[in-house]
Amino acid sequence: MSRSIWIALLAASVAAALGIACTPAKDAWSDDPRPIVTTWRSKCALCHTRVEPGTRTPEKLHEALGRHHVRVHLSDAEWVELEAFLGNKAPAAPPSASPPSP
Ligand code: HEC
Repeated sequence: MSRSIWIALLAASVAAALGIACTPAKDAWSDDPRPIVTTWRSKCALCHTRVEPGTRTPEKLHEALGRHHVRVHLSDAEWVELEAFLGNKAPAAPPSASPPSP
């Protein structure tokens, strides 16, 4: 009987430890409300360590993200936003916001 109590306690503490491990760490973008931040968090750490904003040159990003269109499915506007976000620039205006051409 005491053995099962011990196992239950062990299971509870493992669950607690995992709960702590799963709490996302706070970073500079934790309070950033832009949807692209959520996209970046959910899609960009699936295959490799997440690429942090400002850690790659714009050329490197552009070239690498170009190779990612077959790996990650985002809209054209999202790619533009993601590239701007990772390049640590203000997001470019989405294509729909540009005035209609005459
Ligand atoms: C389906 C798997 C996959 C996903 C998802 C993925 N990548 Fe990659 N990524 C790779 C592979 C494989 C490489 C190495 C080959 C290359 O450079 O294209 C790579 C390389 C890179 C590189 C160039 C190497 C470096 O570290 O500078 C960047 C930048 C990059 N990824 C950014 C991203 C971003 C941003 C996302 C989120 C949109 C993302 N990746 C999501 C597979 C993935």
